[in-house]
Amino acid sequence: MTAPGAIKGGVRAPQQHDSGHKHVAGAATYVDDIPTPSDCLSVAFGLSPKARARIVSLDLAPVRAAPGVIAVLTAEDIPGRNDVSPNAYHEPLLAEDGEVHFQGQPIFAVVAETHLLARKAARKALIEWEDLPAILTIDDAMAAESWYEPPYVMARGDADAALEAAPRVIEGVMEIGAQEHFYLESQAALAVPGEDGDVTLHCSSQHPTEIQHKVAEALGEPFHSVTVEVRRMGGGFGGKESQGNALACICAVAAKRLKRPVKIRYDRDDDMTITGKRHDFRIAYRVGIDDDGRIRGIAFEQMARCGWSLDLSMPVSDRAMFHADNAYYLPAVRIRSYRCRTNTCSNTAFRGFGGPQGMVAIERVLDHIAFELKADPTAIRALNYYDRPGGDRVTTPYFMEVEDNIIHELSAELLETSDYAARRRKINEFNAQSPVLKKGIAFSPVKFGISFTLTHMNQASALVHIYTDGSVHLNHGGTEMGQGLFTKVAQVAAECFQIDLDRVKITATNTGKSANTAPTAASSGSDINGMAVKNACDEIKGRLTRFAAERWQTTEDQVRFLPGRVVVGAEEITFEELAAAAYMGRVSLSATGHYATPKIHWDRPAARGRPFYYFAYGAAITEVTIDTLTGEYRFDRADILHDCGKSLNPAIDIGQIEGGYIQGLGWLSMEELVWDDAGRLRTHAPSTYKIPTASDRPDMNIRLYDTENREETIFRSKAVGEPPLMLGISAFLALSDAVAAAGDGTIYPALDAPATPERVLRAVDHVRGRPWETRR
Ligand code: MTE
Ligand code: MOS
Repeated sequence: MTAPGAIKGGVRAPQQHDSGHKHVAGAATYVDDIPTPSDCLSVAFGLSPKARARIVSLDLAPVRAAPGVIAVLTAEDIPGRNDVSPNAYHEPLLAEDGEVHFQGQPIFAVVAETHLLARKAARKALIEWEDLPAILTIDDAMAAESWYEPPYVMARGDADAALEAAPRVIEGVMEIGAQEHFYLESQAALAVPGEDGDVTLHCSSQHPTEIQHKVAEALGEPFHSVTVEVRRMGGGFGGKESQGNALACICAVAAKRLKRPVKIRYDRDDDMTITGKRHDFRIAYRVGIDDDGRIRGIAFEQMARCGWSLDLSMPVSDRAMFHADNAYYLPAVRIRSYRCRTNTCSNTAFRGFGGPQGMVAIERVLDHIAFELKADPTAIRALNYYDRPGGDRVTTPYFMEVEDNIIHELSAELLETSDYAARRRKINEFNAQSPVLKKGIAFSPVKFGISFTLTHMNQASALVHIYTDGSVHLNHGGTEMGQGLFTKVAQVAAECFQIDLDRVKITATNTGKSANTAPTAASSGSDINGMAVKNACDEIKGRLTRFAAERWQTTEDQVRFLPGRVVVGAEEITFEELAAAAYMGRVSLSATGHYATPKIHWDRPAARGRPFYYFAYGAAITEVTIDTLTGEYRFDRADILHDCGKSLNPAIDIGQIEGGYIQGLGWLSMEELVWDDAGRLRTHAPSTYKIPTASDRPDMNIRLYDTENREETIFRSKAVGEPPLMLGISAFLALSDAVAAAGDGTIYPALDAPATPERVLRAVDHVRGRPWETRR
């Protein structure tokens, strides 16, 4: 791909992940691998076994007496604020007021000589309980009106009147299950105390700045006394935006008190029990349509299970509403959102941040319409798409105009290249002669809004040094969780200076170098940090240009940075020579860079604005075969066309698309979380929670839709982290299509997510007119 004479590893190069070889060789350092001083201690939480209860008495003497225990901490031992919530001071680090609110809530912490001794001691507490009534499910919460805020509504036009006037009305309801992040590296933190009450933390976190703030507040110290460093995470997927706060805070509190380094890592079962997951939703819909399948009016009721504390549930629920339209124009629409407060883990960010839940519902609606009209689902979709730019039907339910729509062209191209029509016919023929195995195929598009909906978070900062040998030290506020951000941003720096990528040193995210940063989330990592780095590089380039023009007696427009060299009028020197000369000329070779995303604004009370800078688009077609005797299935093939604008790194982007699709497929098919009637999570390990493995992967054809972003993003690329997850919706719809083929075409499959083999079997029985109960 590299053009002759071009630099190695500039933007657009399919450069491998900078740590790829280390990941595979087991040589990459994660928090728990950092060599610690010999006096380092471990901490573990004592967890609530109850969903909701009052602590009548708490006897920690047996914990204190356990082997290797150095200290036992409760809420009273926290010198500053007992809070780890990302925003509203709504989540105690350790239980307070003598009550627990979910099974898995940290009540106290044990500091011991080793990880194992701390965990063993934590189980020895003697606690007397008084059970209190718990609100566990969406049903419980809706009945009790247990909500974090009154129902929030986004509306445009008169949905009720449109439904009233529509020739046909279709309604339905869908359960959408939660999802465990299942990052390979569980949550972990290490705190090293320094002088004067300072502390340095090594965390597995997408949000080092928030950890800095929460730790400082817990210690009662100013932010400047806390430094947080994150080299990488073994996966985050949104689960490390806020969920690492508790670990960092408890380590810091213990480290300060005991004047020794302290670390923690959650065992997998604890991690799954304690930390929040993707919000499970119930979404009910009523849609009014024309006889040809065009939507006239629609009303959604979205119910989200948020859990015991606020965490990020407000913006997650908002994003579900922002994606209730997906790629479709809804002429009259009302989306009502209920944020259910329950005594379960505090659900949190997960790839797509609520968007996938909103989107799966409207995709189900389009499918339902096509089924009722016996029309091709792709045709019904095309009929309802937002118009191309310049058309009339371009306004979203939140009054933003869709200006960059490419879904028509993208869909047509994918349908063509994947041979959809012919395969549809073949599948119909197969199903007609196959009584037991049934095939399904489904297409689904994605339109995903890029930007944090909280406007102030759309900013980034960076720090760039050139050393006198011409090598570059690169730092920015983004974090690396496997998505390849560090590689992409280093490619940006290499491109700016026109030097080979190996001249750029990627360094750990550190709150002391790049400060006041946003979380690496909302897929905006490369958009905002790439720009901040470019701004820093441009600042230094400007200084070098002015210096070179003066030193070699020419004008600034005669200074050009070419691959590996700099042309200054009639002179040509290497980049290294220029760096060294500039130093001798006493020119600063360091700069910070800052970037703030333009054009965006959001008025939440009015539910109006332009919350997104642009949209990323994509589409997928999945083919599946189900066994109608067992409900088991195999995904046979997936074809994907996805829009990354002008890709910064096509190799990494294709990896993100593949991984995102599979994670979406897992969410809606095999990944099932089960809570019992007492609110205990029963699926807290890979033995009972099944994520897709290599053998579940269909044959995949992934292509990039190669157009530039019409907005001025970093080298005209588009964000890619989250949008592909929603391509997995096509896998769910393919299952539904196969189930429908088992019936006579009169009953729309009542398939909920995750569509486990059990649910598929139940849905097959349903479309065959046999209720599940009669099977036994
Ligand atoms: N890819 C890998 N390998 N690991 C991850 O944890 N997280 C996803 C996505 N892709 C994730 C990933 C999520 S939730 C987001 S928001 C983006 O990456 C964040 O990174 P970006 O903004 O740099 O794309
Ligand atoms: Mo991603 S859910 O925005 O961390």
